Amino acid sequence: IPGNAAWAAEVRRLAERLDAVLLAHNYQLPEIQDVADHTGDSLALSRIAAESTASTIVFCGVHFMAETAKILSPDKTVLIPDERAGCSLADSITADDLRSWKAEFVRAGEPEPVVVSYVNTTAEVKAETDVCCTSSNAVEVVRSIPEERPVLFCPDQFLGAHVQRETGRPNLHVWAGECHVHAGINGAELAERAAADPESELFIHPECGCATSALYLAGDGTVDSERVRILSTGGMLDAAHRTGASSVLVATEVGMLHQLRTAAPEVDFRPVNDRASCKYMKMITPAALLRCLTEQADEVSVDTETARRARSAVERMISIGR
Ligand code: 13P
Ligand code: SF4
Repeated sequence: IPGNAAWAAEVRRLAERLDAVLLAHNYQLPEIQDVADHTGDSLALSRIAAESTASTIVFCGVHFMAETAKILSPDKTVLIPDERAGCSLADSITADDLRSWKAEFVRAGEPEPVVVSYVNTTAEVKAETDVCCTSSNAVEVVRSIPEERPVLFCPDQFLGAHVQRETGRPNLHVWAGECHVHAGINGAELAERAAADPESELFIHPECGCATSALYLAGDGTVDSERVRILSTGGMLDAAHRTGASSVLVATEVGMLHQLRTAAPEVDFRPVNDRASCKYMKMITPAALLRCLTEQADEVSVDTETARRARSAVERMISIGR
């Protein structure tokens, strides 16, 4: 029966029989996070997938994450409990869009651009990319590119704006994509919550629609700038161990609250928007995980040539930043 101790024991037994490592993103349902071998943000899970000696990786997350694991470990079997778990952000740019965007620069006689793609992209987009990044190393990745080269950053406009603010780079061009969950966490809502809870700290994911407003609130003195932290999900977890605040307002997908509350039970973590739930992440149910391990499906495959072209961009990503 999914959700209880017997379910967890069966999941562990099947995983062992398959020689499988279970990876769960921070936005997964609490029971999936608790049964996994490792939980983490996109970058941490990519690194673990690359280093794992298990012959099978079961990726409890969305499709692009499982694809990234397959790109890094083509000889391993990579399973996802439900292959329909997509991502609205990854859907906001196609490989054709990216090729046309690059071609515009070449036609305009600009120096050849360097393409930086957020890891929330399909394997085909990664194959057209020079370096991938995640929210935890996007700034470092862009800083590693020679100043004279234009940078095409895709697909997330809010993360792009964050990188722009941090690097001050004039030749950074940002694609106008967004994640429907994070874009929905808006500045007005954040301002209202922050005003009602003036002592709280703010943990803001850079994909959020409110990330820019959070910094304005800090800039105009509405919120003490010391209280505003722009962080990846992994960064939030590190910060949770160190926060001196008794309450923290969290702007990201609500699955993150489980990790934060477990890490620091004495802190009151509250969502800025409690409807910010990713329907794709939540397709990975306890029943879906059990079926995946029993039937060894859904298997993720990436065409060999696409994987070969995408691999160097993903490998650069995992070698830069935390
Ligand atoms: P991180 O785990 O890298 O912070 O990414 C958040 C996200 O939206 C993944 O879908
Ligand atoms: Fe994609 Fe947004 Fe869901 Fe993350 S939260 S998987 S970016 S749709």
